[in-house]
Amino acid sequence: MGFHTYPIERAAELEDPSRYRFCSREELLGPLALDGTETVVDLGSGTGFYTDDIAPFAGRVYAVDLQEEMHGIYREKGLPENVTPVTADVADLPFEDGECDAAVTTMTYHEFYSEAALAEVRRVVRPGGRVVVVDWSAAGTGEDGPSVDERYDLTSVRDQFNDFGLEVVFSNERPETFVLVASTP
Ligand SMILES: C[S@@+](CC[C@H](N)C(=O)[O-])C[C@H]1O[C@@H](n2cnc3c(N)ncnc32)[C@H](O)[C@@H]1O
Repeated sequence: MGFHTYPIERAAELEDPSRYRFCSREELLGPLALDGTETVVDLGSGTGFYTDDIAPFAGRVYAVDLQEEMHGIYREKGLPENVTPVTADVADLPFEDGECDAAVTTMTYHEFYSEAALAEVRRVVRPGGRVVVVDWSAAGTGEDGPSVDERYDLTSVRDQFNDFGLEVVFSNERPETFVLVASTP
């Protein structure tokens, strides 16, 4: 758990459409309820597989990843004009307080979670904004994704969010992943 990077030589696997088995475009966009004007930050955006799904529905998207090489791959693929790659750690985001209307993160929470990271998420998302997390669950079988002992279960993540005053408005444990939607105070 905690800070780690994704092997660049396996970056192509992040572009595999079979990933929608575990997280779909629709379930990310549903709770975000975007009207096309919002600023959304994608935390640990990788090659931009899911960033590309969000971009057509947002005003602006910050694609945050600490691996510059991931942004290089995203640029080669083709950046949507409203996506800005940002090389940064989630625990130290280069944004103003409340600059983002929403945050989303897919299959990455187990890699970046720390108290500092959640404090930053709370700081940069405006009051009343949404945070959507989909990640591999410790309650899963390990049929895909990182080993089960590298993951959090939903109860732990709910507790982590509650500790930071992030109000969980929806959450669900699925066979291999969990989804959690929170509102910022
Ligand atoms: C498993 S990949 C998932 C990428 C993308 N979210 C997706 O679903 O296609 C995780 C990505 O998060 C990035 N990452 C991990 N820890 C991070 C942190 N603390 N801050 C920013 N990015 C991080 C890694 O560099 C990697 O590109």
